[in-house]
Amino acid sequence: MVVARHDAAGTGATATIADQRTEELGGQTSILARQRADHARLDRLMARARQTAEAGGIAHQVALRAVARLVFTHAFAEEAVLFPAARRVLPEGDPLTLRIETDHQEVDELVTRLDRSSSTDPEHRELMERTFAVLDHDVRSEEDDLLPRLQQTLTPRELRLLGWQWQLVRLISPTRPHPVVSRRPPGQILSGLPLTVLDRPRDLLQKLDELTRCRFNGPLSAADHLLALSADAVERRPLLQRGEPPETSR
Ligand SMILES: [Fe+2]
Ligand SMILES: [Fe+2]
Repeated sequence: MVVARHDAAGTGATATIADQRTEELGGQTSILARQRADHARLDRLMARARQTAEAGGIAHQVALRAVARLVFTHAFAEEAVLFPAARRVLPEGDPLTLRIETDHQEVDELVTRLDRSSSTDPEHRELMERTFAVLDHDVRSEEDDLLPRLQQTLTPRELRLLGWQWQLVRLISPTRPHPVVSRRPPGQILSGLPLTVLDRPRDLLQKLDELTRCRFNGPLSAADHLLALSADAVERRPLLQRGEPPETSR
């Protein structure tokens, strides 16, 4: 992995964005600063999930849901905006983004299993730690490798433009794991709207469940189950699997 920073002498080396000043990243709205801020938030949410794992219950469920909502909107917008841009401007963009997409795919599969497990299950803690380890690896690949290369290639203005595009897509991205759908356009882009429309009402149902302390768990679970089945059927449409490389195909 490349670790030294590209300097004024133009050595061609790159450095992690982890410890650079925000101005060096192109300002707070650049894709580099936005990514780093989100990754830091993810760290805090994973810490909360670990803290609540022992006691389990609703607090742990809420903590895991917060991790999932951040992770899936963040990753969807990367796959829709950031990675296609990296493939356009970096000669090594294809293998680099494929490696990260493989991590995303693994996270989708692990969270799908984690969602089905209870904190009292013996394998729950291990599943959670495996998920968090892949997420850590994903963050390091981006902050130490992909994003520094983009920093060298794009102007600060282009980095900010990419930041705004990523942020906008993120606001309307699916919030759940969808392991069958393509990780690359056109299937990935086409999946956005139908899956968002199904995922976001499920989030509202979950919040309602949390607010009412599970008193209406029966009907809310039934509605959630119906939406989950619909999302599963949508995800399996052949059109939404178009563009998927064999490495992440399921
Ligand atoms: Fe990221
Ligand atoms: Fe990522």
